[in-house]
Amino acid sequence: SDTYAAWRAAARAGLAGGIPPDQIFWTTANDNSALFAETEMPGLEQKVSAAVPQAFLDLCELAICHRDPGRFALLYTVLWRLRGQRALLADESDADVAALMAMRKSVSRDCHKMKAFVRFREGDAAPDGRRRFAAWFEPDHFIVERTAPFFARRFADMDWLIATPDLVARFDSGVLAFEGAMARPALAPDQTEDLWRTYFASIFNPARLKVKAMQAEMPKKYWRNLPEAALIPDLIARAESRVEMMEKAGFATPPRRAEKSRSSKPAELPLLDSESPRSLREALAQAASCTRCPLYRNATQTVFGEGPDDAPVMFVGEQPGDKEDLAGRPFVGPAGQLFERLLAEAGVARDKCYVTNAVKHFKHEPRGKFRLHKRPDAGEVQACRWWLKQEKELIRPRLIVALGATAAQAVTGKGDQIMRRRGSFEKTADGTPVLMSIHPSSLLRQPDRAEAERSMSQFRDELRQILAVVPEVARS
Ligand code: URA
Repeated sequence: SDTYAAWRAAARAGLAGGIPPDQIFWTTANDNSALFAETEMPGLEQKVSAAVPQAFLDLCELAICHRDPGRFALLYTVLWRLRGQRALLADESDADVAALMAMRKSVSRDCHKMKAFVRFREGDAAPDGRRRFAAWFEPDHFIVERTAPFFARRFADMDWLIATPDLVARFDSGVLAFEGAMARPALAPDQTEDLWRTYFASIFNPARLKVKAMQAEMPKKYWRNLPEAALIPDLIARAESRVEMMEKAGFATPPRRAEKSRSSKPAELPLLDSESPRSLREALAQAASCTRCPLYRNATQTVFGEGPDDAPVMFVGEQPGDKEDLAGRPFVGPAGQLFERLLAEAGVARDKCYVTNAVKHFKHEPRGKFRLHKRPDAGEVQACRWWLKQEKELIRPRLIVALGATAAQAVTGKGDQIMRRRGSFEKTADGTPVLMSIHPSSLLRQPDRAEAERSMSQFRDELRQILAVVPEVARS
């Protein structure tokens, strides 16, 4: 940020001019903007002879966000001393180094808290229909610029602002900008708060309750801005009886080795929170903390299904892709857009249907800057079937459309020969009709243009069959 750049420029000049730490008075216009080093600063552009260790620069980037006004002087002192003591940073018993390390720790913890405890409330939609959210947060340090890009990635398809006493981060139509502080906005309680409460109650594991640790993780200071905090005293009070209930129900925590082999072992896993959700909203909140298979570890978030909770048609795809993983919504990336277009051309209204995936986390492997899609294996599909079952039981669709082999496997228990089965109707074990079809991403992968056109037109025809069974989902 500007403060860091200003400090670096001033420190470089100070070092080049041989100005010792005790002769520089560091001050800022206000504590979050321009920084001035008040002394005669010679040759700003002069090169500092010895290169500064990268470890120091990394340390600096975090420590400079600390609220302590003494941070600039401390950083300069350490920089100054590093000239003669290259290994200084390794000496944690050194008072200056220890103080810097403590600052870094405190800032990094604050960033983590901000990511975990910002709670958005929904306001009126933007004129172009984008949903708009606002949150109030009180960080300990100057971390808004550092942490806001995290929210920009995670909530890329909404407009939002996070107001803090120091700075406001505003994300409008995909552009992140910062403005001066504003007074705490009046944020009306809304439905999102119920969702947070449900989510928190569902991830709350009484068997692991350690009140002290919990308060350290969610310090009381944050409670007043957290809707779910109102539940804490009650959850703590009921914890003991919930553990007893769970013990009676015979749940077991899987041993470590079992956890490792989860992905390849198709088995319904016993989970502490495997009580069936009573509504889609509850299912969504529970799924947000799903650890049924290891895919949650590398995904940004759970991408649950979306659509009316009484939708007569349920589409099942394979798994969220890169764009879905970031947006938190199914079928919004390239395959999703093609799917939506062909669906519209077939006369079906997407928003009258429920759209979900067989697997709710993005499985991928890194390839340079990209995340390459990897097909989920049988164990992952099986582990996630629990959620598909909940969605099916809550929505009770009259027709399921299986898009591709993974969906076919999850819905009918048989994933092969999709090209032969496409366009036909099958049944789930409970008798719900299933229209078999291909996955729209296969249309994007088809190298032969004529073949892609042919398959696309066949896909459209398959989608048209939906209207013969469930005419209510026709576009109006
Ligand atoms: N492919 C899928 O199967 N699902 C999505 O949500 C996106 C792409």
